[in-house]
Amino acid sequence: MIYETKILKPNEEGINEAAQLLKSGEVVAIPTETVYGLAADALNENAVAKIFKAKGRPQDNPLIVHIANFESIYDYAKEVPEAALKLAEKFWPGPLTMVLPKKDIVPKITSGGLETIGIRLPSNETARKIIRLSGTALAAPSANLSGSPSPTCAGHVFDDMNGRIPAIVDGGSCDVGVESTVISFENDAVRLLRPGFVSFEDLKRVSEKVIADEGIFQKLEDGRKALSPGMKYKHYSPKARVIIVEGNLESFISYVSMHDSEKTYSMIFDSDKNLFPFKNLTYGDTSLRQAHEIFDKLREFDKLGAEIVFVRCPQKEGIGLAVYNRLLRAAGFEVITL
Ligand code: TXA
Ligand code: MG
Repeated sequence: MIYETKILKPNEEGINEAAQLLKSGEVVAIPTETVYGLAADALNENAVAKIFKAKGRPQDNPLIVHIANFESIYDYAKEVPEAALKLAEKFWPGPLTMVLPKKDIVPKITSGGLETIGIRLPSNETARKIIRLSGTALAAPSANLSGSPSPTCAGHVFDDMNGRIPAIVDGGSCDVGVESTVISFENDAVRLLRPGFVSFEDLKRVSEKVIADEGIFQKLEDGRKALSPGMKYKHYSPKARVIIVEGNLESFISYVSMHDSEKTYSMIFDSDKNLFPFKNLTYGDTSLRQAHEIFDKLREFDKLGAEIVFVRCPQKEGIGLAVYNRLLRAAGFEVITL
């Protein structure tokens, strides 16, 4: 089916229309504080199937279930450990997804065939209003075509989803810019599966034992089961080959000077700009800014027709770890250390 994709305003009328579409089993792109989500009724198998189709997403990659009030967690999760309650108290509403055993009412298509669901209570007001009005929980992956950079404004969603879904709610540019932190629980520990705005350090301030999953830093070895199925796919990639280059500005410049060509670009820090003599886009100086810019800039390189993009390596602490993790995936784990 080809849709005429409408852009809805985040006002009462737009939100009502979005909720009606969702109630009738359609897919609507909605803003959240992290990235835009491609939402549908999490309990309606046909509606959820439309998400997978619109995105071209592999069926075994589970979707995050979005709720509008804390208490709803008990409608969808079978068990909620003490550690999860403590984290929810501290970080919800907000960009933290917790993987918990699912109740039977959540269909297998939503959980990618798993017995668990990722669940999150977003802080974005528009998202919460839409969830409330639709009267259900919303399954929502990032609203990009599978494998492309996540969308952080309605224009990005439109570029990927025009004709594929009936509507996009335009809530402006997303505050955070990278997807939520994903964690799971095991015995006495919290396992960080995907870093985000809620950082490893933040989690450690609440939970005694936090383990960073090795999938954050390296490619999964063949045959190893991904704890978070999304980690096994190449992700967030623009069409260009992305290469992370670790080293100071001086060595970065001399590296790029040896590899410069017509279709070669660099993604550098704002403060490099005046000293950097080659084609570039900047992505901020602080980790917070870089998180906000990263996907927009990766998309812009496509529009420029870039074939190779050299990236100045970000900090790996705090939200910087999320930026580094997304870049690693965009780069297919190609890192050059000078
Ligand atoms: O910020 C976000 O999380 C955005 C907004 C829209 O909420 N959503 C998002 O969804 O990034 P998606 O589908 O692009 O990424 C979800 C990640 C995937 O890597 C998936 O494998 C993992 O979370 N995930 C979801 N449910 C899971 C589960 N039951 N067990 C393990 N990993 C899970
Ligand atoms: Mg995604």
